[in-house]
Amino acid sequence: MAVVALGGCKGASSAPPPGPPPPPDAASYATVPLAIRCAECHGEIHTEWAASAHARAATAPLYRAMQADAHDRTCEPCHTPLAGAVDPTDAAHADGVGCQACHAIVDVEARRPGAGFRLGLADNTQRGPLCDAKDHYFHKMGCAPLYAEARYCAACHLYYRGGGAVPVFTEYEEWQASPYADELACQDCHMPRGVAEVAVGWPARPNVGHHGFLGRDGRLRARALEARWSVRRGADGGLDVEVAVKNAGAGHLVPGGLPGRQLVVRVRALGKDGAEMAADERVYQRVLLDEHGDPAPFYRAVKAGPDMRIAPKATRVEHFSLAAAGAARVRLELLYRELAPPLSAALGQPPAPAALLLAGELAPGASGELKP
Ligand code: HEC
Ligand code: HEC
Ligand code: HEC
Ligand code: HEC
Ligand code: HEC
Repeated sequence: MAVVALGGCKGASSAPPPGPPPPPDAASYATVPLAIRCAECHGEIHTEWAASAHARAATAPLYRAMQADAHDRTCEPCHTPLAGAVDPTDAAHADGVGCQACHAIVDVEARRPGAGFRLGLADNTQRGPLCDAKDHYFHKMGCAPLYAEARYCAACHLYYRGGGAVPVFTEYEEWQASPYADELACQDCHMPRGVAEVAVGWPARPNVGHHGFLGRDGRLRARALEARWSVRRGADGGLDVEVAVKNAGAGHLVPGGLPGRQLVVRVRALGKDGAEMAADERVYQRVLLDEHGDPAPFYRAVKAGPDMRIAPKATRVEHFSLAAAGAARVRLELLYRELAPPLSAALGQPPAPAALLLAGELAPGASGELKP
């Protein structure tokens, strides 16, 4: 079997080289089908995947902006994983994280310097979790239990830069250290299984994984969280608000993923007419710093700064004092922001909007719970 090594699985302790891996000999370029070919038989899976972040891995506006800013081709092994394996004129060269990249993975080494997987593209085999599927004229089947293991995702979801000084993607290590490590793999939460035809016209199977990666309803970010909270009148006539936010549903710290993702806990005192009288907020995120000690995007960072994210099953308690004696009620909002405003500004972009995950209201003296 011809195997193409990407990202370099050797020398696991050294930082990645400043360029992409050397291209293979032209003679070893593979010809691979694009995702749309797979849709002929795997239509449902294709629809789910097409709406996922993986499908946009090479084209997402934020990725394009950061890649241009970074002037850095080390992004390719994870965002365009076929770039090193096919002819540069082949459409698959610039493809994101598609069917063929993921289903050609033959083995994974969970390694900090970056992409740690090998692709087998020469034997027309689609590897996956099924071990009783019969070979088909279009492709052979490759029974691979690895596909149900968390280690599979570590192929791309584990990344440090700066010789290990700058943690970038650490979900895999956080999961390993979490109470979920013996219970639930990444796939159990991100690819919930259900009864479906794997290929059109084939008998339905009981455990077909959803390829949207944020669950069937796409609302995984809201389902990560729970909050208990109370509002009391303070001694100074203001309002004391106590909020306990729990990471109830994520197998890693929240917010996970790209450094600069933000979870915002906001409280707002509202008058009888609904007008805001006072407000306050706390922001949870991982901050990375450049050589001046200023917040920086990961590719310009030289060290880790504060990390206020919430660990799996942990609870964070916050106290707010609102100077709003006449307030009729208090509104609590949990919001998600794609990128911290200073990092958007550094890219010349407007601040990313804060999307509402959960919200509730209480009168002074009351206590309550927020759940998805
Ligand atoms: C990010 C990697 C990734 C991408 C992209 C991806 N898959 Fe998968 N696929 C997996 C994993 C992991 C499983 C095993 C899920 C499980 O454990 O249930 C899987 C399972 C499957 C299965 C077996 C049935 C099942 O769900 O268990 C088929 C068929 C399949 N994928 C086809 C596709 C097609 C077609 C595409 C593109 C439209 C695609 N996959 C894109 C990772 C991926
Ligand atoms: C002409 C139909 C057809 C096309 C096109 C097709 N497949 Fe399949 N595929 C099947 C059938 C049939 C199965 C087995 C279904 C079953 O046993 O339930 C299957 C199973 C699979 C599996 C599971 C393998 C395992 O051992 O777990 C994967 C992964 C897969 N296909 C990926 C792909 C990808 C990626 C593409 C596009 C490059 C693709 N398929 C295109 C028909 C097709
Ligand atoms: C070949 C590399 C690769 C593999 C393998 C891979 N991912 Fe990803 N994943 C990515 C990239 C790149 C992105 C970011 C895409 C973008 O630009 O938005 C991503 C994004 C995601 C997201 C963010 C979804 C969203 O809507 O914001 C989740 C969740 C995710 N991956 C889960 C997984 C899980 C679970 C596995 C293992 C079953 C896995 N990935 C395997 C490369 C990979
Ligand atoms: C117990 C369920 C669970 C497990 C296990 C789990 N996740 Fe998650 N994951 C979540 C939830 C809930 C969210 C949404 C909260 C957030 O954004 O952090 C999430 C978010 C993500 C995101 C998106 C971060 C973002 O907002 O851009 C990525 C990427 C991700 N997970 C990867 C992984 C990987 C890789 C693994 C395995 C090593 C894994 N997850 C294991 C539940 C889980
Ligand atoms: C080791 C694999 C790997 C490398 C190398 C890598 N990324 Fe990523 N990238 C990921 C994964 C995994 C995610 C998903 C995390 C998430 O969604 O929060 C991601 C997500 C992103 C996102 C968020 C996309 C979105 O739509 O919100 C941006 C932006 C990004 N990467 C930029 C880059 C740039 C720029 C480089 C090169 C300097 C790079 N990445 C190198 C694996 C990688």
